[in-house]
Amino acid sequence: MKFEKEINRRKTFAIISHPDAGKTTLTEKLLLFGGAIQTAGAVKSNKIKKHATSDFMEIERQRGISVATSVMTFEYQNMLINLLDTPGHKDFAEDTYRTLTAVDSVILVIDSVNGVEDQTRRLMEVCRMRDTPVIVFINKMDRDGKNRFDLLEEIEAELKLSLHPMTLPINSGKDFKGVYDLHNKSLVLFTANTKADDEDAINIDINDPELDKKIGTTDAATLREDVELVDGVYGELDNEAYLKGKIAPVFFGSAVNNFGVREMLNTFIRIAPVPRDRETSLRTIEVGEPKFSGFIFKIHANLDPKHRDRIAFLRVCSGRFERNKYYHHVRLDKDMRFSNPYSFLARSKDIIEDAYPGDVVGLFDTGNFKIGDTLTEGEDFYFTGIPSFSPEIFKELVNKDPMKTKQLEKGISQLTDEGVAQLFTQFGGTKKIIGCVGELQFEVIQYRLLQEYGAACEFRPLPFYKACWITSNDKVKLADYMRFKQTNTAEDKDGNPVYLAQSEWFLNTERTNNPDITFHFTSEIHKS
Ligand code: G4P
Repeated sequence: MKFEKEINRRKTFAIISHPDAGKTTLTEKLLLFGGAIQTAGAVKSNKIKKHATSDFMEIERQRGISVATSVMTFEYQNMLINLLDTPGHKDFAEDTYRTLTAVDSVILVIDSVNGVEDQTRRLMEVCRMRDTPVIVFINKMDRDGKNRFDLLEEIEAELKLSLHPMTLPINSGKDFKGVYDLHNKSLVLFTANTKADDEDAINIDINDPELDKKIGTTDAATLREDVELVDGVYGELDNEAYLKGKIAPVFFGSAVNNFGVREMLNTFIRIAPVPRDRETSLRTIEVGEPKFSGFIFKIHANLDPKHRDRIAFLRVCSGRFERNKYYHHVRLDKDMRFSNPYSFLARSKDIIEDAYPGDVVGLFDTGNFKIGDTLTEGEDFYFTGIPSFSPEIFKELVNKDPMKTKQLEKGISQLTDEGVAQLFTQFGGTKKIIGCVGELQFEVIQYRLLQEYGAACEFRPLPFYKACWITSNDKVKLADYMRFKQTNTAEDKDGNPVYLAQSEWFLNTERTNNPDITFHFTSEIHKS
């Protein structure tokens, strides 16, 4: 295997959660451990600074949400960790889903008080599509949360995920005393603090009378019962099952107090996958192949309002990416080289000379890229498994200034290439339909079309609730269907037929009445 040493020291992952569960706080603690930041609070202030760098982001800043999927790279125990941040706000969920195609594993944060929430469910669905290995961190144990076993049961049932507790909590809320680390057989007593290295684990056998002294007889007795139960039911963690996305190790802790984070990070370092082989439209690309390949999973516009440049985020999948070397842009059938590729070391954006599988490289883009684009050393293939998800809000794009039609078309085409929204064109007509996951995106689009392209537009609400990509083995039937249902059919940007459903009832009726047509909620951007 080429570049084996580099590949085996990289772990590329994302932290996902329902907003407010503690993703930012946990990110910050991980960065503290990695020495990438020195003081608590840095991530949040950085979040605000980042937003202030461009005007349209001001909209998001005012609403106090993070939309920028950024990448933070740091070292911990000689491993190179690439942490891909994901916007927690539901209006930008699609961005998060795409980021999940670029990671090798995830850490899922769950609030012990609220348990499984909406966004948790949806994010896990996406992880399941790719069998992404998951580690669960149950956060906010310092608050009166749900019973530990009820929580585990709820997560297993709601997320359809088998769990494997790695630590067990001793009470919660004001009685929270700490966790028992089942792997290291050690007791970690809770202290509220925010620094990275103040947590002391005491090696203590569960039957040692010392345990009673440390946490009291009642809690010691409960813990012994818990440990016996968990040992009996779960045994040792099956690493293979974790790597296949079948079993998720679970940790309890409190991110804000930096408690339970180290146990999780150490386990993550030990078991989380290094970059692996990936499927393409042509063949499996082995991560250790000598030739470079990678794909674009995110495009970020206008970080600096003085420049029009966009930043395309490239995930390296095989070989070595080198600065100034020509690579093949498969979709455009064009060779391109990059003189200023940069990495995302947490403290600065550095120009890099090369990058290896698992790494994310920022490429300056003047409009050549769209999500899912593949770069290779000459071979023609696309990475598969980068789907579009059905939007949830649909509006007609109305041009308010006929003199600026060209600008509007160019603008909406570029914005949809970035993945800000999805564009559909009414079948047999010209009506442009924009589909988004949240209302906020329409505001962002309207603002950006005006600011960046000088095109004024407005949106007219449409009564659709889902877009379904439709396929059929019978091409004639599919074409007939599109014609008969003209008011509800459209084509996506790549010309794929889509049915726009008004409600679940309509959709079910269409499904029943048209057994030869299959309705899909996602479209693979590139199919194998
Ligand atoms: P997010 O990125 O998932 O949206 O969540 P974030 O980390 O911003 O955390 C949401 C809130 O939960 C924050 O409070 C944070 O301090 C708090 N929090 C995180 N971890 C814990 C924990 O272990 N225990 C408790 N009790 N709270 C926790 P906030 O009031 O919204 O912000 P701030 O004023 O504290 O910064």
